[in-house]
Amino acid sequence: MYNPFSLCGKTILVTGASSGIGQSTAIECSKMGASVIITGRNEQRLKETFLQLEEGSHQMIAADISKFEEIKKLSDECPPLDGISHNAGIGKVLPVKFIKPSDLDDILTTNTEAPILLTQTLLKKKKIKKDASIVFTSSLCGVYCVHYGESVYAASKGALSGFAKGAALELAAQGIRVNCINPSIIQTPLFNTISVLDEEERETKLKNYPIKRLGLPTDTAWAIIYFLSEASAWVTGNNLKIDGGYTLI
Ligand SMILES: NC(=O)c1ccc[n+]([C@@H]2O[C@H](COP(=O)([O-])OP(=O)(O)OC[C@H]3O[C@@H](n4cnc5c(N)ncnc54)[C@H](OP(=O)(O)O)[C@@H]3O)[C@@H](O)[C@H]2O)c1
Repeated sequence: MYNPFSLCGKTILVTGASSGIGQSTAIECSKMGASVIITGRNEQRLKETFLQLEEGSHQMIAADISKFEEIKKLSDECPPLDGISHNAGIGKVLPVKFIKPSDLDDILTTNTEAPILLTQTLLKKKKIKKDASIVFTSSLCGVYCVHYGESVYAASKGALSGFAKGAALELAAQGIRVNCINPSIIQTPLFNTISVLDEEERETKLKNYPIKRLGLPTDTAWAIIYFLSEASAWVTGNNLKIDGGYTLI
């Protein structure tokens, strides 16, 4: 059947695959025909993702990508890739006056340095094929808007989106495309730990969303599939808002 969004024959590395957006992306990519390499720190939760993948030739590699040694090991174990979906990330609400050097270190290392170094290491080891597609899960925050207490998280994602543009320019000569998705609230464990909403707060929040619901992991997974597939063959250096219309009002 004609389907420009198909991932059949492609091998895709998905980071942050033990939870939330990365988990959904891994499952949806496998449904689109990809062989998926899933990674994250928690082996038990990675296994839970693995069991939900569509039948195929998939691999699971546990790694803490905040440690450069583990990035190198992960890169060695990866087969040549047609695509990467970078999702591993952390968040913390931190008013400016309360930022500690250790917070800066943790957030920038995981959200910014790790995906940059993983991309570079895979490139150096020739594990990213010609015409591959790299997709970073950045955020609406730090690129299109910001909320109170999110300055460090915003800095980590703004920097990642900046890197993606530079990489898109440099890697275009090899046919490698680099794009970002920029979600607003997606209901995942990360969002639920940062923000526990009662019914009234949830209703207030929803007033800011013209499409009257919060995001689901599949809303992001399907956008990532677009960037990984041939459907986006002439699209690079983008930041795609996935926000139910939040930034319209
Ligand atoms: N949810 C939202 O509203 C939202 C909005 C915009 C952007 N985002 C971004 O989307 C991405 C995924 O977030 P999520 O909401 O799906 O969060 P989540 O459910 O908490 O998942 C985060 C994932 O990152 C992995 N991870 C964290 N630190 C890691 C490390 N040092 N090494 C390897 N893996 C690590 C976690 O795996 P382990 O614990 O197994 O290591 C987990 O699989 C993040 O980059 C986040 O900033 C989320």
